[in-house]
Amino acid sequence: MGTNVLVTGSNGQLGLTIKELYGLNDEGLNFTFFSKEELDISNNQETTKIFTQNQFDYCINCAAYTNVEQAEVDVDEAFKVNAEGVRVLAHACQLANVVLIHISTDYVFDGEALQPYLESDVTKPINQYGKSKLKGEHYIQEIMERYFILRTSWLYSQYGKNFLKTIISRIDKKESLKVVNSQTGTPTSSAFLAHIIFQIIKTGVNRYGIYHATPNGKTTWYGFAKEIAKHFKDYDSHKIQPVEEFTSLAPRPKYSVMSNSKAKKERFVFEDWEHYLKETILRFELR
Ligand SMILES: NC(=O)c1ccc[n+]([C@@H]2O[C@H](COP(=O)([O-])OP(=O)(O)OC[C@H]3O[C@@H](n4cnc5c(N)ncnc54)[C@H](OP(=O)(O)O)[C@@H]3O)[C@@H](O)[C@H]2O)c1
Repeated sequence: MGTNVLVTGSNGQLGLTIKELYGLNDEGLNFTFFSKEELDISNNQETTKIFTQNQFDYCINCAAYTNVEQAEVDVDEAFKVNAEGVRVLAHACQLANVVLIHISTDYVFDGEALQPYLESDVTKPINQYGKSKLKGEHYIQEIMERYFILRTSWLYSQYGKNFLKTIISRIDKKESLKVVNSQTGTPTSSAFLAHIIFQIIKTGVNRYGIYHATPNGKTTWYGFAKEIAKHFKDYDSHKIQPVEEFTSLAPRPKYSVMSNSKAKKERFVFEDWEHYLKETILRFELR
């Protein structure tokens, strides 16, 4: 008995965080974790089989093609996972009456806004990764009735490759850093996102649709790096310098802050992004 939850892409940052924080919970949730090797969401036959052989109540889709730079050259592969894979998963969920909790991105926006994006704002991705993720969103909306699309941004954790880990390893080596100061967004810890997902399932909220799932506040990548450095007292943070541009294949939105006020109405508690950064650094002993 209890609530059965399938987690796809379970060896990624978010999947591993969910496994670590909630995988062994004793609150009536039974998790099944499938890595890419165990379930390729773009394989229709494989995906359909998993859903017909099991009875899931929720599917948390952590599977994605997330290399923003590489997506500019590997366009087909990005769309295969982020659009076609999501279409396959949405069909399987719809047929099996499973609620899909899917993760999307701030990169569905063009970055020209002057104030935080609302869920209802016009989407206009400027890179292939964003385009592929938006197509995935559209498939879910076309195919399904019971879904949550959680748009998040600047995800970090103790797992995989991410900005936090890169900066910490440079700080450990006492290196000087030049960090881009011309993009504004909201860093989001995967533990914060995992907690929101857990709350959605635990409370059984059924106001389906798109939600922006980021903490409060905003910064630039430079500001993010400086905040990380504050936790490393023996590192001279003057060694971190701002730069305007960085060489990148993929164009990046210059402002991708998203309003989280719709999600707040569901009574989820949101702290400032700095709070979750501290929590991540302390909890995972990244110091
Ligand atoms: N990272 C960010 O800054 C960021 C920002 C905004 C939104 N998001 C979204 O947040 C979600 C979680 O991101 P994340 O950082 O946890 O990603 P991640 O660490 O890259 O994990 C994604 C996982 O999906 C797997 N995968 C790739 N193709 C698959 C397929 N066809 N079938 C099943 N699994 C597949 C990957 O395996 P391989 O590694 O072996 O390919 C990887 O284990 C994604 O939807 C992402 O688009 C991320």
